Amino acid sequence: MLRIPWFAGGVVSHSMGQQSRGAPTRFRPLPEVALTLLLLLLPLLASAYRVKGATAAGTDAAQEAPGHSHHGPYHSHGGVLQKMRALQRLKAVEWEMRMQPLEELLERYKARHNACVNAKKLPGKYLVVRFEDKDAGIGNQLPSVVSGLLLALMMDRCLFVEFPFFNKFFDHELDFSWKRHAKRLLAHGHNATEPENIPERIPFGYVTIADVWMFKNMTAYFDKNYGVEMWKDLDWSAALLVNNPHHKDFIETYFPTRDIFAPLANFILRIKPKYDKKIKEFKHKNFKLFNIGMQIRRRKCNGDENELLCELRPTIESYCTVARHIQLMHGLHDNDVRFFLAADEPETYTQKAAQVIKILGADRVIFTDNGIAPSSSEKGVWNAADNPGTLESALQDMALMAHCNDLVMTVASSFGYVAAAWGGYSPVHMVYGKHTNSQNPYWYRSISSEPCYWQAKNMLRALDARAVNQFRSNPLWMQYTQCHNDWNTDEQSS
Ligand SMILES: *[C@@H]1O[C@H](CO)[C@@H](O)[C@H](O)[C@H]1NC(C)=O
Ligand SMILES: *[C@@H]1O[C@H](CO)[C@@H](O)[C@H](O)[C@H]1NC(C)=O
Repeated sequence: MLRIPWFAGGVVSHSMGQQSRGAPTRFRPLPEVALTLLLLLLPLLASAYRVKGATAAGTDAAQEAPGHSHHGPYHSHGGVLQKMRALQRLKAVEWEMRMQPLEELLERYKARHNACVNAKKLPGKYLVVRFEDKDAGIGNQLPSVVSGLLLALMMDRCLFVEFPFFNKFFDHELDFSWKRHAKRLLAHGHNATEPENIPERIPFGYVTIADVWMFKNMTAYFDKNYGVEMWKDLDWSAALLVNNPHHKDFIETYFPTRDIFAPLANFILRIKPKYDKKIKEFKHKNFKLFNIGMQIRRRKCNGDENELLCELRPTIESYCTVARHIQLMHGLHDNDVRFFLAADEPETYTQKAAQVIKILGADRVIFTDNGIAPSSSEKGVWNAADNPGTLESALQDMALMAHCNDLVMTVASSFGYVAAAWGGYSPVHMVYGKHTNSQNPYWYRSISSEPCYWQAKNMLRALDARAVNQFRSNPLWMQYTQCHNDWNTDEQSS
């Protein structure tokens, strides 16, 4: 079953107490016996309603958030809670109906995959996604794995993954390990590292990438190759496939809203219980009715001439203002809201958290590990791309952001937009710059939950008119390009 990402937020359960206090009822005179009976039954009916409500809100939500059983005046208005519940139900129904064709496709995929793994002779064709932990941060790596799944589904191949982080932290009923599959192939007499057997690498370079992913029937193009390899792709290449006329029907059938990442990530990105336990525990202990992630990136500026300028970073106050606005817009009381902070500066974390806390309130700002876990080379695995903390702490923060109901994130950070994509919601991006006029707002909200294709702008500059037009033929092209930084923007260079 494809979990509904938004449900991960664990909304609404504790508010049921409000229900029992009763919606206004119109009274008609009743015989005394009936009235007595009704009075006796009322508490029963109320508790039945509570249970029903909690079940409807999903298993996560069924856990009562601690500290929320009191019936004091400090609660959001009942109408707000009703709205949240109704939205959840609506979303669940829509998701379930929309996912039907994809569920069936994934069922067929499972059968194909198991046939590949258990074959008595040389199994069916495969696609292998390969890269190393040090190649990028998890915000660029996870989309690559999900793109691989999309390709394997589309090309009727079995997917295998060679990526230490994925194999260490994720678990699945299907065996995606490339190492194990390569051994199986060898047992069937196929040595995948022999020159004539080496899988065909999906080509590199902007022009070729665009040509293959946007113009070729990829199934036919790689038809003669037993193995195909996606090597160091490290981007959300699905963004290119959406424009491909040969695969239009496929996308339309299985991804009618064009949310591709969320359902596929929910299928393939299953965190091992050992790590997931900590995430669930943190959530249970700290999350409330509505949780707003705040992903504040302060690093990765002024590193080289291509990077954004540190002096043009959004201010901490502006993140807080937007987060607070989201709370008020929903009519949520302080007690029903938590701000989950994920930042990237260990040195200044306490200071920064202090600033966030000062504005949003100590009781309401939550974060893991007292800020950022100290970097370590846990079993020789370093967090890549100058990212702080450990891979485990990064995954924990990303997953918790995905479990939030909304996110205020730093523009151009794949760590932020991939978290939102995983959770299946559209985040607010905080924008660098001086914001001196209304044409340069300091935030915007994206329209869909899809992650960015971070190379898009540089790629578009390298393409000819035909390829640019092809990319722009997809209404989502803005979504795929605007959520990443444009190096050397006008505002910066002026
Ligand atoms: C597989 O092929 C590679 C490259 O030719 C070779 O080095 C290796 O020994 C082979 N493995 C086996 C088990 O034959
Ligand atoms: C793409 O190629 C495959 C395999 O050759 C073929 O079955 C399919 O019909 C082609 N799709 C389109 C839209 O041309």
